[in-house]
Amino acid sequence: MVGRVPELFSGAAQITATFWQTGSTMAVCNVSYPSSRRNSAMVIAYDGGDSAPISSEWALGDYHRFAKMALWDFGPKLVAACDIRPGLRVLDVGAGTGNTAIPAALTGAEVIASDITTENFAAGRAEAAARGARLDWVRGDAQRLPFSDHTFDVVTSSVGAIFAPRHQDVADELIRVTKPGGTIGMICWTRRSWVCEILATLAHYDPPAPDALPVRLWGDPEHVRSLFGDRIATLSYTTHEYTRGAATPVEFADFFMATFGPIPAAFDAVRDRPGRAAALRRDLYDLARRHDVGTAGAAEFRFEYILLVATTAV
Ligand SMILES: C[S@@+](CC[C@H](N)C(=O)[O-])C[C@H]1O[C@@H](n2cnc3c(N)ncnc32)[C@H](O)[C@@H]1O
Repeated sequence: MVGRVPELFSGAAQITATFWQTGSTMAVCNVSYPSSRRNSAMVIAYDGGDSAPISSEWALGDYHRFAKMALWDFGPKLVAACDIRPGLRVLDVGAGTGNTAIPAALTGAEVIASDITTENFAAGRAEAAARGARLDWVRGDAQRLPFSDHTFDVVTSSVGAIFAPRHQDVADELIRVTKPGGTIGMICWTRRSWVCEILATLAHYDPPAPDALPVRLWGDPEHVRSLFGDRIATLSYTTHEYTRGAATPVEFADFFMATFGPIPAAFDAVRDRPGRAAALRRDLYDLARRHDVGTAGAAEFRFEYILLVATTAV
């Protein structure tokens, strides 16, 4: 498969491949285009066979381990806030390994978990099976969802769709696939959250595409309101915070480096510059030390988010 990359990206100015170990062996290919400021990193499963390319930075690290530690509780909160119940058709966008889709399915609703990163579906399916939940897993880009207009009673996204670069396209798609009078429920990081602080640090090393809007904007209700416009009848949002801890800031940063896909992706972006890689590691440790609100021997970090629920206009 790695050998086929040049033919898949025929307009590229330069293609390099290095290998990454995440359980199975992966090749990380960097494809740069003459007119773009940003290289696109792409990960290719390389098991010696003819594996298909895998899709995004979220396939790096160990997303399920990250989700179980950092944000598994979001799912039941979103399910309750959207009043998901038996008989409703529900779509979860940017579903990851199912923190929302699985509890939604356990209510008796008919659920589709959709995500651009299909590599994480195996962990989601295993989690669903262990909990006795039945649901479907479908590949889908939040900016162009593979579903017909007005299909779902409820559309959810727990810090998922917010990572797509074109916010207006995401909002348009969420509205399009929701039935009139249906519900859209989202959990979004605020600019003060630990995750947005990490993303801001990563951007110094792995700059986003120039036209990509930052994730933190979804934490601003005015931004959300302007994206949805008069296509929603009601919009409520509440701000929340929770904390997560570790023995030390370094241990916490190390956990993120091992599990949270955008961090390995940023290290990959600077892999040919050892000085930059060392600086990135140092910055992540410094960030963790600065944001530690715990006590000696018990580091603690704040995760601030908004939970928003909108109903679509009839
Ligand atoms: C922080 S994870 C959240 C996953 C899950 N909702 C949860 O709360 O654990 C972000 C998710 O958004 C997905 N994602 C990023 N960009 C996307 C896009 N354009 N369309 C669909 N999903 C996307 C990633 O693949 C990843 O699974």
